Order: sequence, then C-alpha cells, then structure tokens
Amino acid sequence: MSNPSLLILPGDGIGPEVMAEVRKIITWFGDNRGLQFDVSEDLVGGAAYDAHGAPLSDETMAKAQEADAVLLGAVGGPKYDDLDFSLKPERGLLRLRKEMDLFSNLRPAQCFDALADFSSLKKDIVAGLDIMIVRELTSGVYFGEPRGIFEEGNERVGINTQRYTESEIERAARSAFELAMRRGKKVCSMEKANVMESGILWREVVTRVHADYPEVELSHMYADNGAMQLVRAPKQFDVILTDNLFGDILSDCAAMLTGSLGMLPSASLGAPMSNGRPKALYEPVHGSAPDIAGEGKANPIACILSFAMALRYSFDNGAEADRLEAAIEKVLADGARTGDLLGEEGVTPLSTSEMGDTIVAALNDSL
Ligand code: NAD
Ligand code: IPM
Ligand code: MN
Repeated sequence: MSNPSLLILPGDGIGPEVMAEVRKIITWFGDNRGLQFDVSEDLVGGAAYDAHGAPLSDETMAKAQEADAVLLGAVGGPKYDDLDFSLKPERGLLRLRKEMDLFSNLRPAQCFDALADFSSLKKDIVAGLDIMIVRELTSGVYFGEPRGIFEEGNERVGINTQRYTESEIERAARSAFELAMRRGKKVCSMEKANVMESGILWREVVTRVHADYPEVELSHMYADNGAMQLVRAPKQFDVILTDNLFGDILSDCAAMLTGSLGMLPSASLGAPMSNGRPKALYEPVHGSAPDIAGEGKANPIACILSFAMALRYSFDNGAEADRLEAAIEKVLADGARTGDLLGEEGVTPLSTSEMGDTIVAALNDSL
C-alpha cells in the first residue's frame, strides 16, 4: 500500500518559518516511528499570487482534493492589501475550505501548566483549561449571498449576508456532539437568537440534534455573553459550538487563555472520503504575523500541534499525537520559550528553529 499523502502549503509571512519546523517533526516520525508520508509542497496565498497571479491555482486545488491531509501555514500580508478582493491571499484559504467542504473547524484551547502564568488572565482562572471550539466553517456571513459593494443613490453600500440552512447547522452540531461524547459531555451553543433569525434557526436545529445525544448536556448562550464568560470563567466550558464569524472571534479570544495565539492549532474536517478518512486541512489559528515575519521569532508550536491533530484525526494515530503533545508539554515545563511567551526575568527567547530542535530532542528522549 502506498504511504498516505500530505500536501504542505506554507503560505506567507511566518507560514514558511513555522512549517519548516513541522517538516523536522514529520521527518522524525518517519525515521523513528515508521510513519511515512508522501509529502508534497505547493503555494497558497500571496506566494501563489506572486507565482501565478491567483491566491490558489486550480492545480493546487485539485491536489488538495486528492490529498489525505493538507497542512497550511498562514496567508496574507500588507504587500497584498491593495489587491482586488478576489485576488487577496485570504481568498485562497477560503476557497480551500469551501471547495473541500470542510464544515467543522475544531479549535482546541488548552492551557499547559507551564504557561498558566502567561495568560493575560489570573493563573487559577486558566490553569488546567481544556476547551474545544467547534466553528462552522463553510457557510454563514463568510459565504452568504447577496454580498458586495453596490451603488445606492448617491453613496455605496457594503453587503454581507448571514445565511444558514438547517442541514448546515445540523452537520456542524453533530460533529460537536460527537466530540463531546469523547470529552466532557457538555456542549454550549452560541448564537444571537435574540436579534438574528439565523440564530433562532440555529438554536432550534441544535436542540433537535441534541435528542440523538441524551448523554450530552446542552446549553445555549448569546455569543456576546459567551465572549464575556470565556474571559470570566472559561473552565465552565467543554465544547463550544458556534457559527463561522462568532467562531473566528471567540477562538482568537480563547487563544489568549492559553498564553499566546502562537499556541493554538486547528483541524478543519469534512465528510469522509472513499478511504474512510475525513477530508481535512490542518492549520494554526494565527495568521502570517507580518510584524515579526522573517525574523525567526515565530512560535512554531501552533503549527506543530496542528500536525498532532492530523495524526489523531486523519491518520488514526492518537498514540503518536499524544507523544508529540507530551514532548511539547515537556519543553515548556523545562522553560523553552519563544519571544511571544516571554515575561519571566532573565529568560532568553529561543528562535523558531531552536524551538523546533528542542521539541525534536524531547521526542528523542521519549523513545
Ligand atoms: P496574526 O495572527 O497574523 O498576528 C496577530 C499578532 O499575534 C501579531 O502581533 C503576531 O506577531 C502575533 N503572532 C501570531 N502568530 C504568532 C506566532 N506563531 N508566534 C508569535 N507571535 C505570533 O493576525 P493579523 O496581524 O491580524 O493578520 C496578519 C495577516 O494574517 C492578515 O493578512 C490576515 O488576514 C492573515 N491571517 C491569516 C490567517 C490564516 O492564514 N489562517 C489567520 C489570521 C490572519
Ligand atoms: C482564521 C482567519 C481566516 C478567517 C482568514 C484569514 C480568512 O482569521 O482562520 O481564523 O477569517 O477565517
Ligand atoms: Mn481568525
């Protein structure tokens, strides 16, 4: 049987820098654990625009559809700010999500003990935190029609439309309940049913799907209250289910509970392919970080943890995912820090590449 295929799309800014460290990890698992992948690399975002004049070529899109899993770094940057909307780097990523139909975006926020002091919140509020945000990823206001900038009388109007069908809500809800069954058996669904009809439908459908998961405790919260509760008492949550836009915002908020946006991985999953694996794209939650790009300062852990999620969700190898996560926990406990995690007196930050090497060394120790 051939090896599973991994398509790597490093993208822009710090994307290629953090992806170089993931490459070291992939090589380590090949050399030491017999996990061989057919790895290929391609362009997305601004890098693809520079090469082909489009943020994602049809060839790359076709490769992503065929791959057993896609790993993406980050896209975007100020260089591309003035491009026509359809050519912006972010459109490449959104096309991948939409055409691969990756409707369920898992964004775990876990606070490693060693980093409990780094959150902007008090230590006892975040220590031991382990929540999972399930963000609907292929619909809602990101994709609803009508959209655009139109002339209206003597001025222009910008329009985006929040739109959800019952089946779109249902499949996202199912994935949240399935996850909750394997975790703390609690789902909190967040919308704004008090002001949005799409929120009313969301609440209705989630409640209906819940009937198939009687063991799971379901609660509903308005998303604005949810944001407040996330910083007030985040440990009340297990799985948070929410729409595309609220999920984008709430997950950046959850990132700071863990110490840094440079720590948060994600998995975007679709329906199973003919080989039983879900269509999948793994990427850090952070962006291309133009303010530090090219300086070797980026924290590669979010991207490396995204590969751990690939091992777990695409390659059915929870044991090796655990090994990688444990190695990361160990280096943090031993005091390894990139610049975004600084704060302690007298600690010299590691470069991106030194952090990758330190994690590889911890993997060696795990054998
Ligand atoms: P960002 O996530 O790129 O950066 C926000 C802040 O967090 C910056 O100060 C940055 O230095 C810091 N940061 C982010 N990742 C880090 C890491 N791994 N290590 C250390 N520090 C890190 O968000 P932004 O500045 O709002 O956006 C920059 C560009 O990235 C924009 O073009 C945006 O559209 C794009 N973006 C892309 C993705 C993605 O590819 N999935 C996600 C978010 C933003
Ligand atoms: C994210 C990003 C993307 C989003 C952008 C870059 C399209 O912010 O993945 O969180 O808004 O979904
Ligand atoms: Mn975002």
